[in-house]
Amino acid sequence: MNTTILLAHAYGQSHVLELEQHILPKLAKSMARIQVKASGINPIDARRMTGELKHAALPQTFGTEFAGVIAEVEGNQTQWKVGDEVLSSGGAFTHATVIDVPVENLIQKPSNINWATAGTLAGVSQTAMTILNEMDPAQSLLIHGGSGGVGSILIQLAVNKGIHVVATASAKNQEHLQQLGAKAVVYGDGLTERLEAIHPEKFDVSIDMVGNEEATQASLKTVKSGGFMGTIAGRKLSSNKIKPVWVKRNPANLKYVVNGIAEGKIKWVVSREYPFEQAQQAYADILDGHTKGKSVLIFND
Ligand SMILES: NC(=O)c1ccc[n+]([C@@H]2O[C@H](COP(=O)([O-])OP(=O)(O)OC[C@H]3O[C@@H](n4cnc5c(N)ncnc54)[C@H](OP(=O)(O)O)[C@@H]3O)[C@@H](O)[C@H]2O)c1
Repeated sequence: MNTTILLAHAYGQSHVLELEQHILPKLAKSMARIQVKASGINPIDARRMTGELKHAALPQTFGTEFAGVIAEVEGNQTQWKVGDEVLSSGGAFTHATVIDVPVENLIQKPSNINWATAGTLAGVSQTAMTILNEMDPAQSLLIHGGSGGVGSILIQLAVNKGIHVVATASAKNQEHLQQLGAKAVVYGDGLTERLEAIHPEKFDVSIDMVGNEEATQASLKTVKSGGFMGTIAGRKLSSNKIKPVWVKRNPANLKYVVNGIAEGKIKWVVSREYPFEQAQQAYADILDGHTKGKSVLIFND
């Protein structure tokens, strides 16, 4: 079976991205072959493209999450069949028309979630659940950069647990933060003072999606002594009191968020949709760091 894969033979801006045709080998043991319908783009994809993060040798492939239809399933396993609609994290890459994925990763796509939404959930859901599990128990949470992919899920998961959430974003995304259940604060000069005004007590926990000095200093000043301060940004910070948090893959956590969305308990925004053929534009846009909710690549049949 043929697949068209997004890949790059060099580091650089989005012009390094190419679509290449490949023939897939025989399906390996415990794998399913998926016709991809939608695949979310995460900042990490674009950061790998530029070479800021070097996780793999060149040429490199991209994409960590998808939704699609099973085209072939290997061997004896009985849980899945051809035609099933599924979503999850990928195997090696997901920005491709056809991909091979370990069956243990798969969860069923609820019929009332559209493809664009389903294709964007795996990375942010599992990241937000990891954060929530590592910060437990807390009654108040500060999120730096709450209007993007991870923040939009994390706010709601935390609020649903009764945690008081204050989140930052630019002025244009304040209403979005409020609709998700957070108290909203604009980042920029005077951030610490605005946080103290809206939340005079110290926070139990802060989590940083941005990785800049402003967020670092604001956490150091507004989180209680001994309170957990984390960052998922993967950037070098000036204080080692801010601890890195890395996503832990866990299909049960993904299922929890997917069910919440299917039942209408968790809101979700996909603000930018691109045909797969426009991947260069999609990657150029995500480098701006201001995605509201998520960006997604859509694949034609
Ligand atoms: N450690 C891990 O395992 C892990 C997992 C997933 C993601 N990540 C990383 O975590 C980061 C966040 O991911 P994401 O998907 O949520 O990103 P995203 O969708 O691009 O969201 C970025 C957020 O940051 C805000 N922002 C931009 N500039 C800011 C500034 N100067 N100060 C404060 N906030 C600012 C944006 O708000 P406005 O648009 O309003 O400016 C938006 O809310 C990325 O760097 C990603 O690579 C790490």
